[in-house]
Amino acid sequence: MGKDVIVACDFASAEATYAFLDRFTGRKPFVKIGMELFYAEGPSIVRGIKERGHKIFLDLKLHDIPNTVKKAMAVLSSLDVDITNLHAAGTVAMMEAALEGLTRPDGTRPLLIAVTQLTSTDQTAMENDLWIREPIDRVVMHYAENAKKAGLDGVVCSPLEAAKVHGVCGADFLTVTPGVRFADGPVGDQKRVMTPAAAKEIGSDYIVVGRPVTQAADPMEAYERCVHDFVD
Ligand code: C5P
Repeated sequence: MGKDVIVACDFASAEATYAFLDRFTGRKPFVKIGMELFYAEGPSIVRGIKERGHKIFLDLKLHDIPNTVKKAMAVLSSLDVDITNLHAAGTVAMMEAALEGLTRPDGTRPLLIAVTQLTSTDQTAMENDLWIREPIDRVVMHYAENAKKAGLDGVVCSPLEAAKVHGVCGADFLTVTPGVRFADGPVGDQKRVMTPAAAKEIGSDYIVVGRPVTQAADPMEAYERCVHDFVD
């Protein structure tokens, strides 16, 4: 898969999600389904969006003992998602088990990417709550290397970290980057943001864009603008 724009469908219901997706009469966006929507609607929302012809990044961030994650991943794989994820903090053994579970009998599987440190976790929280005393950027790179060692396809990271992740883990290791904003749009609660054009420049493989598209007066126009700036 090449570079693409993934639209974060952070809606509370299937009804709201389908009403939003109905507005895309041209190209069908790659859709991210997160915990809120998945827990509200269950697997049927994944099947429904797939049937409409969208690719899906199922963002459930699994983190449990290896055997449980392996079995859960087998279920997600049967839903025919295109990308899913887990927490690198679950250890290399958990990530290897996840990959095993995700691999279908015919050898195919969705892409699997890791969350390193959540962007909501800062150095202070990491030290005080998690008792991790290394600098956060070293922790992020170490977790990315662990994901690579386990055989994963990439990581979710800030666009500001994408170039460094590629430097450490190789150009083929995918960087999926949220925190994208238009230069002339609101930033909201995101702290460190980048435009689609700058994310392209820095080498992100996929950008995840939520509110700049979902809250736009014309979501299709906002989406096409992202594609134009990031992909074309
Ligand atoms: O609306 P916005 O563009 O900020 O949406 C970004 C999406 O990416 C949301 O679904 C958010 O949960 C997700 N995300 C993030 N930062 C991370 C990981 C995921 O913003 N570090």
